[in-house]
Amino acid sequence: MKPIKVGLLGFGTVGGGTYQVLTRNQEEISRRAGRRIEVAAVCRRDLAAARAQVGEGVRVVADPMEIIRDPDIDIVVELIGGEGVAREVVMAAIAAGKHVVTANKALLAVHGNEVFSSARDKGVMVAFEAAVAGGIPIIKALRESLAGNRIEWVAGIINGTTNFILSEMRAKGLDFATVLKEAQRLGYAEADPTFDIEGVDAAHKLTILSAIAFGIPVQFAKAHVEGISQLQAVDIKYAEQLGYRIKLLGITRRRNELGGIELRVHPTLVPAQRLIANVEGAMNAVMVQGDAVGTTLYYGKGAGAEPTASSVVADIVDVTRLATADPDHRVPHLAFQPDQMQGTPILPMDGVRTAYYLRLRVADETGVLSRITTILAENDISIDAVLQRESLEGERQTDLIILTHVTVEERMNRAQEFMQSLPSVLAPIARIRKEELA
Ligand code: NDP
Ligand code: HSE
Repeated sequence: MKPIKVGLLGFGTVGGGTYQVLTRNQEEISRRAGRRIEVAAVCRRDLAAARAQVGEGVRVVADPMEIIRDPDIDIVVELIGGEGVAREVVMAAIAAGKHVVTANKALLAVHGNEVFSSARDKGVMVAFEAAVAGGIPIIKALRESLAGNRIEWVAGIINGTTNFILSEMRAKGLDFATVLKEAQRLGYAEADPTFDIEGVDAAHKLTILSAIAFGIPVQFAKAHVEGISQLQAVDIKYAEQLGYRIKLLGITRRRNELGGIELRVHPTLVPAQRLIANVEGAMNAVMVQGDAVGTTLYYGKGAGAEPTASSVVADIVDVTRLATADPDHRVPHLAFQPDQMQGTPILPMDGVRTAYYLRLRVADETGVLSRITTILAENDISIDAVLQRESLEGERQTDLIILTHVTVEERMNRAQEFMQSLPSVLAPIARIRKEELA
């Protein structure tokens, strides 16, 4: 059978890694795919840099459309990133009847419905294993290996940059800016690192996971997104004293009683003994709770050239194997048959059920604790643990740390407003959600 020809659009961290892996493991990959897979062309604007990265037989172009128009190219691999040029080239490739492999979670979380619908109309595949959790095969696991389950929830550390920052801050006491620079140097961070730090990248990935888990369209605009830029080192320390680690988690959960789905990214206290709490550095981990299988955990490198390339190449192999199959017999892009997708709503944050960590800077005087616990009780919020830092000599204020049991976010908002208005509460209350993930 004639070789399958691949065009790599974008030749940076992941594009370069993909070329390396495809070249180094070519024989092994061909044995699996049943056909030889060849990189026929690569595209980046800096032609000299591209030429220096590839062998003589590979065409180097600066205009992505040259690859899309090339009738010899079977698979277009989009590794440019973002929603601008990337969207244009993906839509053009589909229109040209080419299969697409992409690592672009931003594109799919925002424009996935349009992309998948066009791909269906043209009978081509769009594969995106690398778009979520880099090298971890979570898309395949959730979409195919857990197909017998009713998925209850998915919770994951799905941004390597922020996990690297939180780990280094906790373990080495390094400051935020220093660790971020190192993450950028290592190629983990997005072109715009605010996407990492502010939780946007994790929300892109969670949006895709949620769609596959529950059979709903991608709805990034409805995700609740909070990053780690407001997180204070003192809360990492207090959490540790209470037996918890703080992780930036993406959580999506089915709420049967409300007929909706939670979709949220935020810093989260997780019990230190949970495996996921011990996922450090740029590593990612995703927990999936299915009614038949129970809890499963997927762990690995979520970013970097070759770990991400591992998923890109797996997709290229999948597409190669299925290229000649009847489009109706392929695995649906979002796991569920297109006519079986549901319109289950994404719940507003007010309705989310979770527990909380609260840190209050309070005047160290009689009755403060009782006033605060009264407010919590009046709002039907049950306390799980309280920690009061010993006041230093001469100090007239202290930190009061409260862990609550699970409650509804709306109640906590109300209680927080009352607590904040007490004259003995001296600074804005720090609040972090807490999940047991049991
Ligand atoms: P890089 O910035 O390293 O690479 C982007 C590449 O695209 C560069 O080669 C750039 O080269 C090229 N490019 C940019 N604009 C154009 C254009 N208009 N025309 C042609 N080429 C262009 O990004 P990454 O490799 O890190 O990321 C690629 C994708 O993979 C993104 O969607 C990202 O979110 C995703 N991803 C990244 C991971 C990682 O660990 N880095 C992990 C998982 C997913 P030039 O400037 O010369 O044009
Ligand atoms: N910037 C992303 C991260 C890359 O840090 O996880 C992988 O998607």
